Order: sequence, then C-alpha cells, then structure tokens
Amino acid sequence: MSSLKKIKIIKPDDWHVHLRDKRILKKVLRYTEMFYQRAIIMPNLNKPIINCKQAIAYKNRILQATKLNHTQFEPLMTCYLTRETSLKELKYGFLKKIFIGAKLYPNQCTTNSTTGINKISEIFHILELMQKIKMPLLIHAEENNIAIDIYDREAKFIETTLIPLRKQFPELKIVLEHITTKEAVSYVEENNSAYLAGTITPHHLMLNRNNMFIHGIQPNLYCLPILKRKIHQNALRKVISNGSTNFFLGSDSAPHLYKNKINLFGCAGIFNAPSSLLCYVTIFEEMKALKYFESFCSKNGPNFYNLPINQSTITLIKKPCKIVKKIDLGQDFILPFLSGEILKWSIL
Ligand code: DOR
Ligand code: ZN
Repeated sequence: MSSLKKIKIIKPDDWHVHLRDKRILKKVLRYTEMFYQRAIIMPNLNKPIINCKQAIAYKNRILQATKLNHTQFEPLMTCYLTRETSLKELKYGFLKKIFIGAKLYPNQCTTNSTTGINKISEIFHILELMQKIKMPLLIHAEENNIAIDIYDREAKFIETTLIPLRKQFPELKIVLEHITTKEAVSYVEENNSAYLAGTITPHHLMLNRNNMFIHGIQPNLYCLPILKRKIHQNALRKVISNGSTNFFLGSDSAPHLYKNKINLFGCAGIFNAPSSLLCYVTIFEEMKALKYFESFCSKNGPNFYNLPINQSTITLIKKPCKIVKKIDLGQDFILPFLSGEILKWSIL
C-alpha cells in the first residue's frame, strides 16, 4: 500500500490577519491558532488601535480568547497610523515590543480606513522616526484616488508614492501587504533589499478577477486590493515558486458577517483562516515548488522582522479535507473562503 504524502515544516506564522473583536474574535481565532504560531494582527477595528494602551488591551482580549483553545499562539500587534500619531507613543511602543510595526492605510482605501492617511507627506516626521528606530512600516499599497481605475491603484501607488518614498527613506523597512500585481512582484524582486518585502494571500494566488463573476456576482470574493487579471495571478504564483526570500505568507483573512458581505455597499474581505495554509500547500504543489514552501511560510517572515524562527513543527498530509461550511454566530454567520469545498491537503 502506498503511504500518504506528508510534509513536516516549521510551524508557520501569518504575517497579516484580521481577527476583529468580541464575538467574532472568539469564533475565528481558533482557525488561525490551529495553523500558525504567531500572527500580525491588523489594527483596523471599528475604532482603530492607535496607541499602546489600546494595543495592550486588544492583545489581552486575544490572549483571553486563546485560552479557550489551549495553544501557545502569539499575537503581534500593530499601530494604525494617523496624522496625529504621537512620536513618543510610537517609539515607546516599538522599543517596549508592544508594536511590531505600524500600518499605513491610505484614507478611505478599505474597511475602517476613514482616519487613514490623506497625503504621505503628512507623516514624513513619523517615517523619519520609524527609519531611525528600524520599525517596520506595513503598507496597504493602493492609491486612494477613486478617479484611478481600481485595477491600477496598486501599480500607481508604487510609481507615484512608493518609489519617491523609498528614495527619501532608503532604510525604512517596508512590507507591501497583500500584493496583487506583476508590477508589485517585479518591484520587490528587482530591489531585492533587506528593507523591502511583500506578503501574498492564498486568494490572490488561487483566483483572478474572472472568479468574481462566475455564475453571477460573487460578493464573497470581493476583497481589497481587488482580484486582478490572470497575468497578475500568474506572476504571484511564479515568484513564490522561485524561492525568492523577499516574499512571505500573509493570509489577509478578514471575516465579515455574511449579511454585510451581500449588503448594498458590501464589505471587502475574505475569511480564509480555515483553509489558508491548505491553499498555500496546494499551490506550491501545483507549481512543483514544495521545496520552497517552508521558507515562504516559516522562515522569510521572521528573517525580515528579525524574530526567531519557530521551534515547533506542523505536519500536512495529502488527504481530502472539507472546509467548514459556515461559522455560526447566533442569528448571523460568516461564510468562509471555499466553504464546504474539498481540498487535497489536511493538517495531521
Ligand atoms: O479585503 C480587505 N479586507 N482588504 C483590506 O484591506 C481590509 C480587510 C478588512 O479589514 O476587512
Ligand atoms: Zn488586511
């Protein structure tokens, strides 16, 4: 009898996740904990996390929720940047390891970003400090000008905002979050710098913009940055397959209540925590690049953030796995990415 194919890797980290708060947090956290040792928690709550006190309180709420699941999960907190962010607070938070980095949301670019940054020059003094203290800047890299075509906003951001920014702050550590285009891939790859990295989501690797319009409109696949053309999807798949160390795992798992997804003005975000790691392994296998799977999931991220690589391991096995159909929340529910579908890989 042939034995099932297995892969044992260092336990991965998720370098970009939304856990929300309260009852949603309690329901979704177990999926992230199951697959990941640490995760960078996005600060865009309804009331964003803008100071140390809020970050500590939010971290404690997350740790409280992990108690239900008995894991050693470690949340890594971020500060939501605004024009008013206090330099003293940011510096204190970073040096005391309350914050692992700060997140830049261009104003109105996505969920809960109404207090985001209008013009990057508003925060040059903050970036100056961050460069000095080596605090990573995590960027939602899209232009927020709605006159720019939604499919071009990432490439435009690189051209008009990021390139000049990196000239001005060449030693600022930057993560381009959830990159979606060939332009972002080439920019990170060509710069091949210790100061620049990109995270990539499972959904941008698995899907392209056509998937949003198969059998009618699919609000569940609406996320930001929006799914792009297949040529971009292929560029993402290719770059993770060639082992480039400047790219790492960031699921951008972003739960929203189903009713808010299918609403008029539906929310952007894909809740992929139950399947993200299984999706990544499937893609690496399809790309015949399993030899780079562990570095993408478990090494490139900590190396960029100057954190130790995890000690524990996780084993994935080639055995069908059915993704949970829905996450019940009383009268409401969350519909996960690939709800009820069968994936080829499971966790042992
Ligand atoms: O699709 C997204 N959802 N993109 C983001 O940038 C934010 C996220 C969320 O918070 O739901
Ligand atoms: Zn996100």
